[in-house]
Amino acid sequence: MGPSIKTVDFLVIGGGVAGLRAAIELASKGSVLVLTKDTISESSTGYAQGGIAVALSDEDEVCIHFEDTIKAGDGLCREDAVRAMVEEGPGYILELISWGAEFDREGSKLAFTMEAAHTRRRILHSHGDSTGKEVERALIKKVRTYPSISRYDFAFTLDLIIRDNKCIGATVLRGDSVINIFARAIILATGGAGQLFSRTTNPMITTGDGIAIAYRAGAQIVDMEFIQFHPTTLYSRGAPQFLLSEAMRGEGAVLRNIHGKRFMPEYHEKAELASRDTVTRAIVSEMVLTKAKHVYLDLTHLEKDFVKKRFPQIYSTCLQYDIDITEDKIPVCPAAHYIMGGVSTNLHGETSIEGLFAAGEVACTGVHGANRLASNSLLEGLVFGARTGKKAACYMNKENTDPTLYKSDNKFITEREASSPASFDAEKIRSSLRQMMWKKTGIIRCEKSLTAARSWLRKWDFIMNTPFRNRRESELSNMLTVSQLITEAALFRKGSVGAHYRSDFKSRGDQPERHTAFEGSSVPEWID
Ligand code: FAD
Ligand code: SIN
Repeated sequence: MGPSIKTVDFLVIGGGVAGLRAAIELASKGSVLVLTKDTISESSTGYAQGGIAVALSDEDEVCIHFEDTIKAGDGLCREDAVRAMVEEGPGYILELISWGAEFDREGSKLAFTMEAAHTRRRILHSHGDSTGKEVERALIKKVRTYPSISRYDFAFTLDLIIRDNKCIGATVLRGDSVINIFARAIILATGGAGQLFSRTTNPMITTGDGIAIAYRAGAQIVDMEFIQFHPTTLYSRGAPQFLLSEAMRGEGAVLRNIHGKRFMPEYHEKAELASRDTVTRAIVSEMVLTKAKHVYLDLTHLEKDFVKKRFPQIYSTCLQYDIDITEDKIPVCPAAHYIMGGVSTNLHGETSIEGLFAAGEVACTGVHGANRLASNSLLEGLVFGARTGKKAACYMNKENTDPTLYKSDNKFITEREASSPASFDAEKIRSSLRQMMWKKTGIIRCEKSLTAARSWLRKWDFIMNTPFRNRRESELSNMLTVSQLITEAALFRKGSVGAHYRSDFKSRGDQPERHTAFEGSSVPEWID
């Protein structure tokens, strides 16, 4: 039996900040179906801690937020995209507050914290360190007020349906059934790819699906070498790689090596508040120098009640692993956190394929350049989620074809249909891939490590052409695809810019301000 068919006006793939915000914009224009591959709360959005950067405080200005973002992006930000985000950000945040989002306050005024590479206290936060949950709660509540929006959870998108170079739908695995869902406009909001690395802050859903799906469909993919590694995640036997928010350093926490020495002032004048890539590499240097697997984040000099109240989630999580952050130094180590590159879009979320839009971490608007400024990502999801929704609504008005006339191919076969067992061990390859990517394509790269990554990845090329039997196999294929794009882009950029650091090319290289792009080819090229 072939796939069943469903038709909606708009298909939004992803239920994090970007997907939900886009869906809200589309709700008055037709039927909207939001897909999530797990529960709605399993998204990076739900785990976001530190907050949302927005120029709303009395001491701040939009132009200063603009400058800080551009500076962090190290020459690769698209200025018009940054301008759109910082200028429209305050309006979208006030709108979110009007929908019921509660941010922490000092008296009646919004409270703003500091994070690395910001020159002002401009980070709004919620329940201390659970900002993402609150943003998600407010958006879900708003979504529920629209009868035109429905949701399929545990609906895993396998591929896009392309006809005459237009995107007209997606093939989706729901339980054991495959459905071809047709829509007038399709919005990818599938988040990031942190799970490609064995050390990551990201939840299990972040297997880079949206980037791989769009790449297979022939969309332009850009800036894949730029992976942000967060400096501070918990490093303790048996404990998860739990994020220790940058806001802790913003409130005065310091980094010490295993001998107790504070080291950041030797690396940068801004010490612990230097940009993320600088702090991450300094930590790696100290780990090498001291032959240790971690350094320490130290808040013990801060007032205990303040720490408990300001970071309640982090305090209680660390206590589960017998670390009292008010009394003990916290063992920390960097981890993959965010992908700056992704599906290339213009300022309205349009990709290089007609009918296909992208927003949030899966997209590359150029807002973050080579290194994202802390807490700019939730803001990007809100602003560009809304912008993308607005544009997709117009696109739908233009089109008037009957999508059910189209037929699609897909590479999924059920376990029952499969004539022989899988010729590979998906779980073993997934685990080896994540370790390989961390070691060879991680924080510090060079020709030798990247060439080894390339050879390792090529061994598994056949998996990308094998029919998938289940979600895990499809995810593995996507992870291999995205790993190849990262590795090839990292080999191609012979220079160190932003978060991309090559130990064999420490200077910025020949074309530091150009972007790398893939378009239907596995070989990157330069674009402006
Ligand atoms: P996500 O929120 O990740 O949502 C992706 C959605 O896509 C999910 O619903 C998922 O189910 C769905 N999906 C994925 N693949 C498929 C598929 N194949 N089929 C169907 N559905 C699919 N940023 C900040 O600005 N401030 C912070 O304080 C902050 N803290 C962070 C803390 C942590 C621990 C992490 C991991 C990230 C943090 N970030 C922060 C980054 C930020 O949270 C993310 O970049 C942002 O939330 C991404 O939003 P999104 O909507 O693009 O994707
Ligand atoms: C954090 O709280 O450190 C994460 C902030 C971010 O990734 O923007």
